[in-house]
Amino acid sequence: MDKLIVTGGTRLEGTVEMSGGKNGCLALMAGALLAKGETILINVPQIGDVRTMIEVLRALGVRCDEEPGGVLKIDATEIRTTEAPYELVRKMRASFCVLGPLLARKGYAKVAMPGGCDIGARPIDFHVKGIQTLGAHLVTDHGFVEVEADRLHGGQIYLNFPSAGATQHLMTTAALAEGVTTIHNAAMEPEVVEVAAFLNKMGARIEGAGTATVRIEGVKELRGTTFKLIPDRMEAGTFAVAAVITMGDVRIENIRPADVEPFVMKLRETGAIVDMYENAMRVRCNARPLATDIMTMPHPGFPTDLQQPFAAMLSIAEGTSVVTENVYERRFKYVNELVRMGADIKQEGRTAIITGVPKLTGAQTAATDLRAGAALVCAALAAEGQSEISGVEHIERGYENLVGKLRSLGAQINDNGSETKEAPTTEPVVQASGSPVL
Ligand code: EPZ
Repeated sequence: MDKLIVTGGTRLEGTVEMSGGKNGCLALMAGALLAKGETILINVPQIGDVRTMIEVLRALGVRCDEEPGGVLKIDATEIRTTEAPYELVRKMRASFCVLGPLLARKGYAKVAMPGGCDIGARPIDFHVKGIQTLGAHLVTDHGFVEVEADRLHGGQIYLNFPSAGATQHLMTTAALAEGVTTIHNAAMEPEVVEVAAFLNKMGARIEGAGTATVRIEGVKELRGTTFKLIPDRMEAGTFAVAAVITMGDVRIENIRPADVEPFVMKLRETGAIVDMYENAMRVRCNARPLATDIMTMPHPGFPTDLQQPFAAMLSIAEGTSVVTENVYERRFKYVNELVRMGADIKQEGRTAIITGVPKLTGAQTAATDLRAGAALVCAALAAEGQSEISGVEHIERGYENLVGKLRSLGAQINDNGSETKEAPTTEPVVQASGSPVL
């Protein structure tokens, strides 16, 4: 799909089910390399980033079979090569995290350095330092990171920032190291807990995941396992924003309330009514949302991945909101696109001042990254008139069947630039020439 066409103004109503979580899934797929055997992942989202990671694993000579219903079978008994293809790793940062598992399994790995992207430089220094602490000889050369180690050993790792990816990556690397590794100032995201639970099911000995101190006691070998992914909390937050911004009433199924709590607490401050159930939440709003301030932080703070959609909602809120992005240095590129739709936003460095306007108007906009695209979709759903959103390949990387799910809630949205299908008229539309339009 190259662009989306959205006609705003429809209240979203109904029930929608969330997919398995992208960010945990990619780390689990890299972790599957540790097992001499078959790993079966269940509830895998059909999204671009998962397809890219499948390509990476297949390029390593690992068997990957997709089955209907979101089942992915990965058999890493044989790993034919320990060099991950440059063009794939450059495309998706998460694929860099095959480095540690390859090193742990084969004693050597060569993986391209991931590029930065539109939200920031996203260096890998925590990953590099951690892997060196575990005994690897590491060289960065010609855009590649090359690592070698006869036997990895445990160590003490301190992360300057609680990096989710670095925590996941170093847990998978330390799982087969000799001795005990402790990661201090570890990330506490649900997806970190998910990866630890997955590794322990494979036979690893990991304690403390979900706290700032994670202890990994290395084992000799890990076996394949079957593991169901946790739901995508960022998708759930995005749909909650879509419900509020359209003053709708949406039941969002397949969520874990604890995972979305930081976000829901802030959403309630806007006047939204959020009813929580065991595996679902109902989000309603029957008036313009109220302004509120958000500051993104590592979990359990407000998630940076929902900063952009939430800001889209604040752009029509009553009052002025202050949005502070503390995780990435450049996560406001969508602001100019919202301003094109009539938003009143002043951005200075890591802060955006949003003065709510009564309504947005449809416009031609461009998505620059995954969550910026989500923000533009939410804005377009509420805007008066029609919007076009290009760069939709970014959205497809992380949202499974977004168009279909939104349409099931009543949204007027189409992909591939096809016109929004209006309800058929009772009278044939007649061209100027007099012949009816078929
Ligand atoms: C994960 O990225 C997610 N991606 C991101 O989601 C998410 O925004 C991020 O965690 C924060 O929650 C995946 O899990 C695939 P980080 P990750 O390492 O692990 C700095 C989305 O939209 N840092 O926690 O790469 C980094 O620059 C994506 O789904 C270093 O300085 O993020 C950033 O400022 C976007 N050195 C901060 O830490 C390092 O070695 C957090 O990054 C590593 C990170």
